[in-house]
Amino acid sequence: MEGKKLEKRIGTAVDVLMYALLLVQMVYVFTGNILHEALGVGFFVCLAAHLAIKRKYLFSLYKLKGKSAARKTANISTMLLSLTSVAMMLSSMGVSRTLFPWFRYLGYSDLHVYLATAVLTLSVFHGGIQGYIRTKKKKRAAVFIGLGCIASIAVGLALVPYLNRHFKVVRVDLAKAVSGEKIEWNGSKPLVVYFTRVGNTDFEDDVDAVSGASLMLADGELMGSNKLIADMIENAIDCDVQAISLTGEKYPSSYGSTVAVAGKELRKNVRPDIEPINTSGYDSIILIYPLWWGTVPMPVATFIESSDLSGRELYLIATQGSSGYGSSADDIEKMAKGADVHKVMSIYCDDIPTSRESIGKWLKELNKG
Ligand SMILES: Cc1cc2nc3c(=O)[nH]c(=O)nc-3n(C[C@H](O)[C@H](O)[C@H](O)COP(=O)(O)O)c2cc1C
Repeated sequence: MEGKKLEKRIGTAVDVLMYALLLVQMVYVFTGNILHEALGVGFFVCLAAHLAIKRKYLFSLYKLKGKSAARKTANISTMLLSLTSVAMMLSSMGVSRTLFPWFRYLGYSDLHVYLATAVLTLSVFHGGIQGYIRTKKKKRAAVFIGLGCIASIAVGLALVPYLNRHFKVVRVDLAKAVSGEKIEWNGSKPLVVYFTRVGNTDFEDDVDAVSGASLMLADGELMGSNKLIADMIENAIDCDVQAISLTGEKYPSSYGSTVAVAGKELRKNVRPDIEPINTSGYDSIILIYPLWWGTVPMPVATFIESSDLSGRELYLIATQGSSGYGSSADDIEKMAKGADVHKVMSIYCDDIPTSRESIGKWLKELNKG
């Protein structure tokens, strides 16, 4: 009796762990590739344990005769769940880059997401119907099952694509994205200075399988979106371009960890070391930066404070995920003592690959002023 009780408890714990693992797996964009794959293996180990515990039930699934409608539904959904789980295991190995790089069957990422959605939904249904069979409050159980299934489908078909759209790799045809109208710049040649995650982050070699904030593959090469803007300006006007490059520790590959590190840097007001940028001889500087925590990334603050910008025209482009340009212009104005800081052009991250025309217009406007 004691042994059975323990087995039941372990079974419930394994089930809960499996649901949790599935949900964490869905936010792949934040976990990164290696953790995603490791958790995937963990999920299938739990599944094997679950099947071992429930082996008797598993082998009687096909016996539908004489069973109640609820039991029949439970058995059929369990069969479906078993099939989709096997398909998902194959597709997980198929899309794997680290643990099963040699396995290439069912290796389509869209299929993988659909199968994961099916497994999540059927798992909720599978757990729910067992509860439905046991409880006296059938109506309430049915409502919970319905809501759980709708939520699971929404996670797979709405939340995951939303996260992918906003945080996943974007592919760009570099020549097409960068080229456009040539603009005559009034005055001496400006210096374009930009900061971007790529080059300042410890990305894995297979970073196209790892998602991050608006990572971009331009002609198959990883490229920071702010570098793309610098390239657009370089195509439009005669200018020099320099990147703000960290000399010390780089940012971590996962988006979430970078947000955490950047937040800590901001709170502590640190100035990470960067390679020196020679601004002498330039009357105008165009500074391009991503908005981090509503202001400039701290390496950009290092650049501004370590440069003598007095008497220079400072033009700003901020890329962002929703917040305009936050307090970045005010903060820059305080740091860039004596510089003439102009209005910020703010570009929403999804619009970056197609912003060549609006950047051209902005440059023309600057020439007027
Ligand atoms: C650490 C960090 C903090 C961010 N904070 C903000 C923010 O406060 N507001 C916002 O709209 N976007 C925020 N974002 C989104 C970035 O501004 C946006 O993705 C930007 O285009 C990234 O440019 P990059 O790919 O060249 O690094 C943040 C991104 C990171 C990585």
